[in-house]
Formats: sequence, structure tokens, C-alpha cells
Amino acid sequence: MVERLPEEGKIWYNGEFVDWKEAKVHVLAHGLHYGSGVFEGIRCYATEKGSFIFRLNEHVNRMYRSAELYKLKIPYSKEELKNAIKETVRINGLDACYIRPIAFYGYHHLGVNPESCPVDCAIAAWRWGTYLGEEALENGIRCTFSSWRRIDPNTLPVMAKATGHYLNSLLAVLDAKERGFDEAIMLDNNGYVAEGPGENIFAVKNATLYTPAAESSILPGITRDSVIVLARDTGYEVVEKPVTKEELLSADEVFFSGTAAEVSPIREIDNVTIGEGKRGEVTGEIQRKFFDVVHAKEERYMRWLEPV
Ligand SMILES: Cc1ncc(COP(=O)(O)O)c(C=O)c1O
Repeated sequence: MVERLPEEGKIWYNGEFVDWKEAKVHVLAHGLHYGSGVFEGIRCYATEKGSFIFRLNEHVNRMYRSAELYKLKIPYSKEELKNAIKETVRINGLDACYIRPIAFYGYHHLGVNPESCPVDCAIAAWRWGTYLGEEALENGIRCTFSSWRRIDPNTLPVMAKATGHYLNSLLAVLDAKERGFDEAIMLDNNGYVAEGPGENIFAVKNATLYTPAAESSILPGITRDSVIVLARDTGYEVVEKPVTKEELLSADEVFFSGTAAEVSPIREIDNVTIGEGKRGEVTGEIQRKFFDVVHAKEERYMRWLEPV
């Protein structure tokens, strides 16, 4: 069972804090009908040095880039949005949480053309544990190649984290769950591996990491970037290139990266055991490093942590 959202606390909504239950939209809001919004998923971690938001700048930058691709003008500066995000965490008394800022075309008229629609903006934050479960972080998950291809750059700007794009992810997730798997892996339109419905993917072969590049229709993940930096700083070679299904199936290790999934090993794909069928050594090392970094235990990467 998926946990229900809380109903207490405050949500920042168009510049003001409102009670959780009062943060509502009209049923004729443009964003509801056409998926015309952009959002972010951000984590805040409790550490011995206080609470820190992981790579807040990068998340906010990506949100504005996503908005630009849809000509959606967020009516706040990046600085204002960052401050609002931090304030949302503080006002809700959260030390560790998931943060969801969203901007979408609101209520005005119902043509597809969003011109004249206001841009509404909200930020919510709530306590949230692991996405795929504690077990998953340790023992890995079972995935399937989806028959749904990842959205294509000739159809939608895949680099944008836009609300409507997630219909593609939804189909892949539903299909994977119906067939008894934990998560889907989507291919791009050329048949190369793209990513999960909400995660980027890495393969490890002979201690080198491989991950699909931008050309494979991926969302440029901030955790993906962090993993690349951490792996290289640890001495591993990381290659961004088109990755085939075969390369995943014959890899020593495969893992997902993402704000929600963090670093999650994949132990099986379509009933084929990956490596030894458990979290591999390299994945374990990267995962440990990642958790040390987000928990402020690595001085070198404190630049990624924004104090609340
Ligand atoms: C489709 C998709 N790919 C990849 C990711 C991973 O990105 P990040 O590491 O920035 O959370 C996400 C999550 O935001 C996603 O939704």
C-alpha cells in the first residue's frame, strides 16, 4: 500500500502560506486539463550538522529551465522560490522531508493555448521515507523492460520535468506492477535504454559505470549527476553512451538513481538475475558515499547542501 499524504501543515501557495487542506485548484484550471505544469522533487536530509536540502540550486535551475521550454513564466525569481522552499520546510517543523514545488497554468479559459492563463505556484513538504522501500536499498529490486517507449525529443522536450510527461511514466509503472515487477525500465525510440519512470539508470561492467546519455531521451537527473561526480572522484571511469538491453542484462551490477529512489540496486530484469542477484560492490560503495554526502559527512561535497 502506498502511504497517504498528510493533511496537516502549511503549503506555500502563490506567495502565501495556507492550511494544507485549503491549497486547492479550480477543476477548470488549464494545468489539470492539459498537463501544463512543471515541478521538482527535492529531498531535505536531517544530519548531525542540521537539516540540509540536497542540491537546491540545481533543482530550482532545472525547474526554471523546464518552465522556459513551455514558455511558462514563473512569477517569482529563483531566489524568491528558494527562500520559499526553505521557509516551507521550516514552517512545517520538518527536519527531513520530500519537497514538491510546482508551477502550472491556472484558471482563465480552456483553450489549449495557455496565453492569458495565470501561472500558479505551490510548494509542499512532508515526511517521506524511502521510495522503493528499505529492503530495496539493501537487496535491490526486480524490474521489467516496458513496452512503453520513453517520450521522444521530437514530440516533447524530454529534458523538462513537466507534469504531462508523467503520463508516459504512469503507463510504464502500471504495466510493470500489473506484471508483478517493482519498477519499469523504458527504452528510447531507437531501442536503447533510457531510464526508469522516475529514475536514471546505471550499469557497472568490469568496474566501469555506463549510463545513457542525453540523446537517449533521459531527464537529466541531479542524482545521476551526483553519482557521476562521486564515482569519478572515487576513481571509477564513467561512460555516458547509448546502452543496449543486452548490456544491462549482462552487466555485473545495475542500479537506479533519483531523488526519490536515491541509489537503488536492481537485482533482476525480466527474471534475468543481474550479477549475483544482490547489491553489487560498486553500487554499495556509491550508495554509501551518496548517503554520507547527503548526511553532511563529506566536507568536500558540502557545497551541494543548502542549510534550511
Ligand atoms: C523521469 C525521471 N527520470 C529521472 C529522474 C531522476 O532525477 P533526479 O535525480 O533529479 O531526481 C526523475 C526524478 O526526478 C524522473 O522523474
